Amino acid sequence: MLFSENESLTEIWQSLVHELHRGALDPKHPFRYTNLGTIGKTGPEIRTVVVRSVSKELDFYIFTDFRSEKVAELITNPAASLHFYHPSKRVQVRIKARTEVHHQNELSQRNWLQVQGEAKKAYSSTLAPSTPIQEFKEAFDWTESGDAHQFTVLKIIPDSIEVLQLNGTNHLKISYSKTNSWAGQRLVP
Ligand SMILES: Cc1cc2nc3c(=O)[nH]c(=O)nc-3n(C[C@H](O)[C@H](O)[C@H](O)COP(=O)(O)O)c2cc1C
Repeated sequence: MLFSENESLTEIWQSLVHELHRGALDPKHPFRYTNLGTIGKTGPEIRTVVVRSVSKELDFYIFTDFRSEKVAELITNPAASLHFYHPSKRVQVRIKARTEVHHQNELSQRNWLQVQGEAKKAYSSTLAPSTPIQEFKEAFDWTESGDAHQFTVLKIIPDSIEVLQLNGTNHLKISYSKTNSWAGQRLVP
């Protein structure tokens, strides 16, 4: 369990924030990955992405290719959601957020320095992501190594965070929302 019924909303918030930060630091932590939801042209879209870092302010940073569908969707509508599940602690976290798309600016250039060697290929394919091809090998062609042209950082800024602790029949659910500071409200699960 991440938290119990006897803890205060503030104590639970601190445990939650700690766990979200750990996710970005530990490659084996289940919160290292998140399901990113966006609003697509024909309905909701969802995909798994890596959480690269979480700031002190609790903004989430994700790396992607500027040409990907998710970037077009987020430029059209910056509303996003993040979903996490920790199987051993039996905790679900759902975040409603706004997104900033950082491409070819100071923030993206600074983060590009963290991307080493072969990992750069994830953001520099010759063909754009989701281009139809006849053979898989057509996708395995990259622009010159070190080309940061398509590299994009998504900054996900949460407005509300719902946490659900499974606990036998007595599940515990809290919604934290941000006005000036984060305030929690217990909910029926
Ligand atoms: C475990 C895992 C981690 C992934 N991490 C990322 C990532 O950090 N950034 C990314 O753009 N895509 C990542 N992907 C690929 C996305 O899930 C998705 O297939 C791709 O970004 C295209 O999505 P889109 O067409 O909705 O833009 C990952 C996929 C898996 C299975």
